[in-house]
Amino acid sequence: MNLPFLFLLLSLILPSPSSSTTSHSLSQGSSLSVEKPNNVLISSNGIFSAGFHPVGDNAYCFAVRFSKSLDPTFVWMANRDIPVNGKGSKLSLLDTGNLILTDAGRSNVWTSTTVSNSTVLLSLLDTGNLVLRTLEGFTLWQSFDFPTDTLLPHQPLTRNTKLISSRSRSNYSSGFYHLFFDNDNIIRLLFDGLEISSVYWPDPSIIFWNSGRTTYNNSRIALLDSSGSFVSSDDLKFVATDFGMGPKRRLTVDFDGNLRLYSLDETRGTWNVSWQAFSLTCKIHGICGPNSLCGYGPERGCSCLPGYKPRNLTDWSYGCEPNFSHSCNNSTLNFVKLPNVDFYGYDISFFPGETLESCRRICLQYCNCKAFMFRVDYGSRTYNCYPKSFLLNGFHAPNFEGDVYLKLPRAGLLSNNEPAKELLNCSSEAHVGLARTYQKKQESRSVKYLTWFVGVIGGVEMVCIFLVWCFLYRTNQGSSAAVQGYILAATGFRKYSYAELKKATKGFSEEIGRGGAGVVYKGVLLDGRVAAIKRLDGANQGEGEFLAEVSTIGRINHMNLIEMWGYCAEGKHRLLVYEYMERGSLAESLSSEELDWKKRFEIAVGTAKGLAYLHEECLEWVLHCDIKPQNILLDSNYKPKVADFGLSKLLTRGDLNISGFSRIRGTRGYMAPEWLFNLPITSKVDVYSYGIVVLEMVTGKSTTGLHVVEDGGEAEHRQLVTWVREKMNGTAAMPSRVEEIADQRMDNNFNVAEMEILVRVALQCVEEERDARPSMSHVVEMLLRHENDNEQVTLE
Ligand SMILES: *[C@@H]1O[C@H](CO)[C@@H](O)[C@H](O)[C@H]1NC(C)=O
Ligand SMILES: *[C@@H]1O[C@H](CO)[C@@H](O)[C@H](O)[C@H]1NC(C)=O
Ligand SMILES: *[C@@H]1O[C@H](CO)[C@@H](O)[C@H](O)[C@H]1NC(C)=O
Ligand SMILES: *[C@@H]1O[C@H](CO)[C@@H](O)[C@H](O)[C@H]1NC(C)=O
Ligand SMILES: *[C@@H]1O[C@H](CO)[C@@H](O)[C@H](O)[C@H]1NC(C)=O
Ligand SMILES: *[C@@H]1O[C@H](CO)[C@@H](O)[C@H](O)[C@H]1NC(C)=O
Ligand SMILES: *[C@@H]1O[C@H](CO)[C@@H](O)[C@H](O)[C@H]1NC(C)=O
Ligand SMILES: *[C@@H]1O[C@H](CO)[C@@H](O)[C@H](O)[C@H]1NC(C)=O
Ligand SMILES: *[C@@H]1O[C@H](CO)[C@@H](O)[C@H](O)[C@H]1NC(C)=O
Repeated sequence: MNLPFLFLLLSLILPSPSSSTTSHSLSQGSSLSVEKPNNVLISSNGIFSAGFHPVGDNAYCFAVRFSKSLDPTFVWMANRDIPVNGKGSKLSLLDTGNLILTDAGRSNVWTSTTVSNSTVLLSLLDTGNLVLRTLEGFTLWQSFDFPTDTLLPHQPLTRNTKLISSRSRSNYSSGFYHLFFDNDNIIRLLFDGLEISSVYWPDPSIIFWNSGRTTYNNSRIALLDSSGSFVSSDDLKFVATDFGMGPKRRLTVDFDGNLRLYSLDETRGTWNVSWQAFSLTCKIHGICGPNSLCGYGPERGCSCLPGYKPRNLTDWSYGCEPNFSHSCNNSTLNFVKLPNVDFYGYDISFFPGETLESCRRICLQYCNCKAFMFRVDYGSRTYNCYPKSFLLNGFHAPNFEGDVYLKLPRAGLLSNNEPAKELLNCSSEAHVGLARTYQKKQESRSVKYLTWFVGVIGGVEMVCIFLVWCFLYRTNQGSSAAVQGYILAATGFRKYSYAELKKATKGFSEEIGRGGAGVVYKGVLLDGRVAAIKRLDGANQGEGEFLAEVSTIGRINHMNLIEMWGYCAEGKHRLLVYEYMERGSLAESLSSEELDWKKRFEIAVGTAKGLAYLHEECLEWVLHCDIKPQNILLDSNYKPKVADFGLSKLLTRGDLNISGFSRIRGTRGYMAPEWLFNLPITSKVDVYSYGIVVLEMVTGKSTTGLHVVEDGGEAEHRQLVTWVREKMNGTAAMPSRVEEIADQRMDNNFNVAEMEILVRVALQCVEEERDARPSMSHVVEMLLRHENDNEQVTLE
């Protein structure tokens, strides 16, 4: 036995057992009282404290909290669901070795149910663990074994423990969201709500191995270490963006259902998010309750479906209820279209290959059909119909390619023509968010990219969720999606050897393009796929950093973004392997007269979708910074795919400066004014370039052709914008005539309405003032809205 330790213990125990005040431990026979604010245990490093804390009117909980955060941040609670009275309540360590919490009225609110015949001591350790130990060091009980909603570094999540979120920001009782190891050994987030429950992470529509998880390891243990790295036995791994020893961290299932890793900013006493499971919080189940929609205004918010009204104005988890009486008389019913909306689950059945009309009839046949989802199936090139019996987990996302048709009484439609548009306050948004700006980090670069790399593996989650969800919508609807998922896994991103790529390109013989980043060659891979192989000139960073960047880019997947199949980093060689696009670039097609109006419009919409995905749906940092016709490639059906995204980060390691980007990037003529005036660079630079590209597509006045213009491009593009703007504004003498700006090569074969909308949107995109430009998702919405104009009622 360690003598000084024993002495220390005795000195704590002996003086006056009944009046324990601020100290690290509590001895047998003594207690902490709710009425004495200084009756707290403080860890010897001063970081944690344990004591009674108010959680409501005359309601107290015994809790361990961070003593240095501004808002109380609780890491453990004894009685979260049964708060105690503000008078007469106390936590006592009995002579029998039992720790009990008593209330004036109720004797046993909570107990550790421990018993010992040797001397025991309750101590708050530096880790934040509250432990009941014998003097011999045997642990009888510890708070780390009974987590509430938070894991601290070195506190394992095991097969016997789970985290349960708080009910709301201010109500700490058990809420709806659980983090736990499921029976198949995978760590999951579950929504266990008032009426339904469902697993929402990892994404249920993705086969778990595509989320990077494995069921094979039965040890079911996950641990956060003090440098901010989380490792789970199901292969889930992620690290804090501020990876490294230093800030105090916690991993919490927040009341809004998101799992977040926080770092304490000790000088301010606030928390920074350094990792989170969802960047798109509308994907979290139960967030808005039944019959409502989660959407992103500037902030996330909930709104009732048209014809429905909120059930509880203070608590959105109750959702909405119909403000009409249900009827099964189909002559009294009609449908309202809600574009880009989905509800998860509760399909009455699944009908492949239906028309909109037949799907309506199906929904009318089922009296309990509340709405149906109508969605294109790219595999079979038909539409699928999903009538729904409950409308749960609804969300609206501009990029979601599917519409919901809501069944409503005709009478209600007329009086209620304007659907609820305002996003009501869910009052459940976390108070801290990931920084959206592109700040230069102070830490050393190698740490940063190491962090990135590991972080990416966890972040893949988020990318994957959207990726596979887009392509493999609902695996439970049929086996074909599962098969596709398998192929996806099997043909995943990989590393190629230089020799392999040299052989594939026959010694780099067939050049198909040349740009700022390097030369592109056509090649045939060993598995027979035709690839475009890009040899980077400017990539001079180390293999690890390169791999970190490339594997992030490689995991971005959207049908309007070029797919990266792999990379090669050997010695000084840096190559990227992409899918090959038959029709080459938009620049080539524009100069060769093969694009009719329909193709041009679809290219404009597709490109906007790809960019919106990069800016908003993806990991948040992806700006393209070099949008131009040369970087928009066309497949055999003239479907556009944006190429070269992410390269801006790959190529300029050497001259990184302001906001992480070297100044003056991109191609003259397509560059937003911000570049020239040293203003902060945001996603609006891509919006500007997109606007120029669209104007070129409409007018056919491409001044660049295949080459990057070295001089004069600037002036000519400004001229193009001015010219189009004048034509569109018109004057009294010369009314605006969109026909005059149309590319002559289209022989006046175009849709005037589409042309108008496209040009107006493009002119908004090229506003000098970046705040006046729309976001890419707004562009998508504006372009698609006109397609929906002939529908009866639309949302937004
Ligand atoms: C304490 O109790 C355990 C059984 O519960 C017994 O084995 C042990 O000998 C006891 N120790 C003392 C010091 O009485
Ligand atoms: C917290 O939420 C629970 C469950 O909804 C409720 O019973 C309790 O009254 C709430 N507590 C406070 C202080 O609002
Ligand atoms: C299972 O996971 C644990 C914890 O991550 C690890 O230590 C162990 O080696 C794994 N076992 C196997 C068979 O992979
Ligand atoms: C937390 O975020 C703020 C603002 O983004 C930043 O200034 C501060 O340095 C961050 N603190 C830590 C510990 O990362
Ligand atoms: C419910 O319907 C009534 C009449 O049908 C209407 O006056 C009222 O505004 C509606 N309430 C909501 C919240 O939509
Ligand atoms: C709304 O929810 C709050 C909190 O859960 C509850 O106290 C209140 O009674 C509810 N109101 C109605 C009308 O259901
Ligand atoms: C259905 O509604 C129409 C119009 O309100 C009415 O004329 C008809 O009688 C109803 N049919 C049934 C079976 O209730
Ligand atoms: C109208 O509804 C009835 C059930 O109420 C159903 O049997 C019938 O097929 C429906 N008619 C149409 C045209 O959908
Ligand atoms: C939404 O709720 C938050 C927190 O309760 C509050 O600060 C904010 O003002 C609310 N916003 C609106 C528009 O009501």
